[in-house]
Order: sequence, then C-alpha cells, then structure tokens
Amino acid sequence: MENISFEKRDNVAVLKISRPKFLNALNSNTLLELGSVIEDVKKDRDIYVLVITGEGNKAFVAGADIKEMSNMSVFEAREFSILGNKVFRKIEELEIPTIAAVNGYALGGGCELSLCCDIRIASENAKFGQPEVTLGITPGFGGTQRLSRIIGTSKAKELIFTGRMIDAKEAEKIGLVNKVVPQDVLMDEVMDLANSISRNAPLAVRMCKVSINRGIDVDIETGIQFEAEVFSHCFSTEDQKDAMTAFLDKRKIDKFKNR
Ligand code: CAA
Repeated sequence: MENISFEKRDNVAVLKISRPKFLNALNSNTLLELGSVIEDVKKDRDIYVLVITGEGNKAFVAGADIKEMSNMSVFEAREFSILGNKVFRKIEELEIPTIAAVNGYALGGGCELSLCCDIRIASENAKFGQPEVTLGITPGFGGTQRLSRIIGTSKAKELIFTGRMIDAKEAEKIGLVNKVVPQDVLMDEVMDLANSISRNAPLAVRMCKVSINRGIDVDIETGIQFEAEVFSHCFSTEDQKDAMTAFLDKRKIDKFKNR
C-alpha cells in the first residue's frame, strides 16, 4: 500500500490515509487502496471496530485530489465519483462500527469520508466543510446525500451552498461530530471508545448497526419488523446464552466469543 497504513490492535483496526505532503488528499490510487483494505476488513471476523484517521496532525483528509481532478473529462469525472462513492458505500455498509478520528482538515471528500463512518470524534483543530462550489463543482463522494441525513437538510444546504469551513466546536454544536477533544489525546479517546464497543457482544453490535442503517431508509413498520428479526437472531448465538447465564449467576463475562 502506497497511501494507506493499517494495523490491528486486539479487536480494533486503525486505518490511516497517508499522503501527508498533500494533506492526505484522495486520488484514484488512494481510493483503490482504500477499497481493497475495506474488503479485507469485511472478511476479517476478528475486527470488531474500525477507526479511520489521517496521517500527521494537520489533516484528516483535505478532499479529493484537486490536481488529479483539474483536467478530467466529463467521463473521467463520472468514473472518479463512481469510484469514490463505491468505496465510501462499502465503508458505510460494513457491519462493524466505524469511528472517524478527525485529526485536522476534513474538507470535501474528507468530510464525506467522515460522514460514512458511524461516529465522528474530532480534535480541537479539526475543520469541516464542503468547499466544492468554490471550485466550480458539487460534492462528489456522497456529501449532498449524507450531510443532510446527519445534520438536517437546512444546515447541510447552508454549508454546501456557502462552502464555508466550520471549526470543531461548531461541528459538535450542529451534531456533525459526537465529541471534540484536545489533539494530543484524540487517538487515546478514540481507542477507549473503540475498545469499550469491542468488549460488547460483537454479533449483537453488528446487528444493531445493520438494524439502525436499514431503519433510516424504510418506514417505521418495516424498520421494527426488521428489528424483531435481528433481535431474535441474537438468540441463536452462544454470546447471548453466556451473557444471560452470567447475569443470572451474578458474575461478569470475561470476553465474548463472537459466536
Ligand atoms: N488536492 C490536492 N492537493 C491538495 C489538496 C487537495 N484537495 N489539499 C491540499 N493539497 C496540497 C496543496 O496543493 C499543497 O501542495 P504543494 O505543497 O505541492 O503546493 C499541500 O497539500 C499543502 O497544502 P497548502 O499549502 O494549501 O496548506 P495550507 O495550510 O495553506 O491550507 C487547506 C490548507 C486550507 C486545507 C488548503 O490546502 C485547501 O484549501 N485545500 C483544498 C481543500 C478543498 O477544496 N477540498 C475539496 C476538494 S473537492 C472534493 O473533495 C470533491 C469531492 O467531493 C469528491
């Protein structure tokens, strides 16, 4: 991998976009690498939580690569958008929880990358924005779709129409990030959160995510029917039996089996 680093710490994986010279901007090669790592994560049953962050202390991802985009034909731009959207959708559709550790600029494609994660934790120096209209384009990796689903249509339109950059505090206020922390403790905080999630029954956590994601796109009746399916599915797992038995025996479970 040229532009991605990846490591596993127990049941948590950390994926870093690593093109620091270009503030981790996403070119086609980085998107292809990202897609391939996500495929591996999907197959690895020992990964319970995925953390995505950027190399260095200045940028999470400063957007899609403007140099690469500058001379694209209409056809190439379409292919580029399809590639980015395909990879980001793969991230969104991972059954395990994903956390964006936003360690600096999250602009354009960078903001969009954070939007396809389940939880966003930002450092105090982080800046968010969809500046595409200042470059004569629209967001191309899902920004017009996911931003409004997360912060509401009105605020999303304001940010996308103005291209304005907002700081981490404002991002927290509008519900774009879950928490803001000092930069020197960002990864510790994110790892604590990831570890606390990974200590819970992994299959149940997956089912929760699948059910929430499914529920967003369907009517409430279909959503609650789906919830009944995932709820009952949990009763086929050893983890449910072990955890409920442990509760009744008034003892704590050591580690879930992921079965
Ligand atoms: N693409 C390519 N290169 C980028 C980049 C990007 N998105 N963002 C930064 N870089 C490069 C710069 O060109 C510069 O390279 P050189 O040293 O070779 O000149 C290097 O990274 C450092 O950047 P700056 O010198 O500009 O750093 P700064 O501290 O002065 O400014 C910044 C930081 C405000 C983030 C500024 O770099 C910036 O505005 N970047 C572009 C942000 C942007 O517009 N992103 C959206 C792109 S469009 C998009 O993402 C479309 C989509 O949805 C798919």
